Amino acid sequence: MAEVVILDDESAAAGLAANVILDLVRRKPATVLGLATGSTPLGIWLALADRGADLSDVRGFALDEYVGLPDGHPQSYRSVITREVVEPLGLDPNRVMVPGHLGPIETAGNDYERAIRAAGGVDLQVLGIGTDGHIGFNEPGSSFESLTRVKTLTRQTREDNARFFDSVDEVPVNCITQGLGTIRRAKHLVLLAFGEAKAKAIAAAVEGPVTASAPGSAIQLHPHVTVLVDGGAASELANVDYYRYAWANKPEWESL
Ligand code: PGA
Repeated sequence: MAEVVILDDESAAAGLAANVILDLVRRKPATVLGLATGSTPLGIWLALADRGADLSDVRGFALDEYVGLPDGHPQSYRSVITREVVEPLGLDPNRVMVPGHLGPIETAGNDYERAIRAAGGVDLQVLGIGTDGHIGFNEPGSSFESLTRVKTLTRQTREDNARFFDSVDEVPVNCITQGLGTIRRAKHLVLLAFGEAKAKAIAAAVEGPVTASAPGSAIQLHPHVTVLVDGGAASELANVDYYRYAWANKPEWESL
């Protein structure tokens, strides 16, 4: 099962995730990181930038991207990843890929899968979760075997993301996203969620039935998952006492 860690606040969770990433990079400087955009992982990028570690050999693959925004649009995930991850962390921009930017959109999914495979696969994938349960932009109903492909965003996701645009109508309808099958191939999944708005999605992902209707529940099929949440996001979990107990009794030698 996923290891669920309930932390006091976002910055504690971000600090823990940053430590896990830095431990990995110490062991393997050319770590392949799966990068997520959105509000949730921001603290991780800030914590990593603060630590000032040398991440210049790290490779990165973003989870997803809007389809239909002009090149260089500030809300394209290419721009967001450059601004929030590549520049502050000192990553090599040539080693960081965002789906949909490798060639024609028709073949972009396969091209991205090939690039991930050529890099040796993702070592650690950072994930947020949508209020509708999506991971990446895999909306409810997405196949657990799906690979990178063009999809259509739900109205809920477009409304959730409207805060980054002038209005919901400006949020693109289409996206390209790593599939649940792509995500499941990453060696370690680190899923973060904060606030009560995410509580139902987290409960469904961690404890609900494994179903395509709750894309986050795909994590239950993965052997190495860490879920970092605050009290709000944990508030619908049934087994909170056990998660706290397990964390308090975690063997010292055991890493996350
Ligand atoms: P958020 O988005 O981090 O901005 O809440 C999460 C997601 O949609 O995956």
